[in-house]
Amino acid sequence: MIQIVPSQGRVEELVQFVARLNSDGAHHIGFFGEGEEDVRTSLAECSIPTDEGFLLAYEDGTLVGVFGMDADLEVDRAWMFGPLVEHEDWHMLADELYAHVLKLIPAGIHSYDLFCDEQNARLAEFAARHGFPLQSENAVMTVTRNDYKPHASKGTRIIPFEGQFFGAFETLHTAVFPGTYFTARQIVEKVNETYQLLLAVDGDRLLGYHFGKIDPAAKSGYVDFIGTDESARGRGIGADLLTAGLDWMFSVPTTQKVSLTVNANNQIARGLYEKVGFITERVMRGYRKKVE
Ligand SMILES: CC(C)(COP(=O)(O)OP(=O)(O)OC[C@H]1O[C@@H](n2cnc3c(N)ncnc32)[C@H](O)[C@@H]1OP(=O)(O)O)[C@@H](O)C(=O)NCCC(=O)NCCS
Repeated sequence: MIQIVPSQGRVEELVQFVARLNSDGAHHIGFFGEGEEDVRTSLAECSIPTDEGFLLAYEDGTLVGVFGMDADLEVDRAWMFGPLVEHEDWHMLADELYAHVLKLIPAGIHSYDLFCDEQNARLAEFAARHGFPLQSENAVMTVTRNDYKPHASKGTRIIPFEGQFFGAFETLHTAVFPGTYFTARQIVEKVNETYQLLLAVDGDRLLGYHFGKIDPAAKSGYVDFIGTDESARGRGIGADLLTAGLDWMFSVPTTQKVSLTVNANNQIARGLYEKVGFITERVMRGYRKKVE
């Protein structure tokens, strides 16, 4: 007998269940992250409280499933945190949880996202059954301090951002990453001791840029964007920029690991990252359903 209940008073049990299943690619759901700390942080960052947005399924007193959601009316999006199911009839339980979770999504949201490891084959079937088309396929790549192999410099001139290059930077960023999550202005305004924007220049000509950040508390770094002018590619500028960015991140003693996300089909960029020691940790799939 399956019982579906709100997560109130059971959040720690939920965290442990999610962290255990999420370490396995065949179950992995992207929004939760890895490990108990990540799961707690992900739940805390939701705008809808865990008590209201997350459901647990029990069978004869044993926790067998978790499904939750977060939503934001401003961006018109609901993020489906699940389903994470440990039951011989995975699909039956996933569908039952989904029917309950749908009732929690606030009115006025027209776009629902699922996000999982490519190895999560049951979620792919779930997405197809419920009309969520594949939206994106991204590789999550990481390099540790020990595995980092700086690329031998090709002599590119690399400088921290200077205001005189803003116009050229905006043009290049918009051309290389149209419609991405930070505008050129937002990037420039973020620059401080934890966010750095590096430029590859030749005189007053901008050839490329690298934007990355460090998080000393998490002992990590993240490459947000790297791009070079199309006319200047294949000359080692990308490798020089990446090396300069990683040198900066690893010059901070707390940084143990740097990660990034790249379109899984972007073989040129993946090749560049692999050359300095990055490995692919996961390939993640995003599915998005539009609803009336
Ligand atoms: C990825 C990118 C930054 C590389 O810049 P670049 O200046 O061409 O880089 P490099 O000249 O240093 O080349 C680095 C490596 O990329 C690969 N590469 C570059 N051009 C390539 C091409 N035309 N075909 C195949 N591989 C290529 C190679 O592995 C090369 O290493 P090599 O020295 O062994 O040949 C650039 O292609 C770009 O801006 N792409 C669009 C934005 C993007 O995809 N960014 C990454 C996602 S965040």
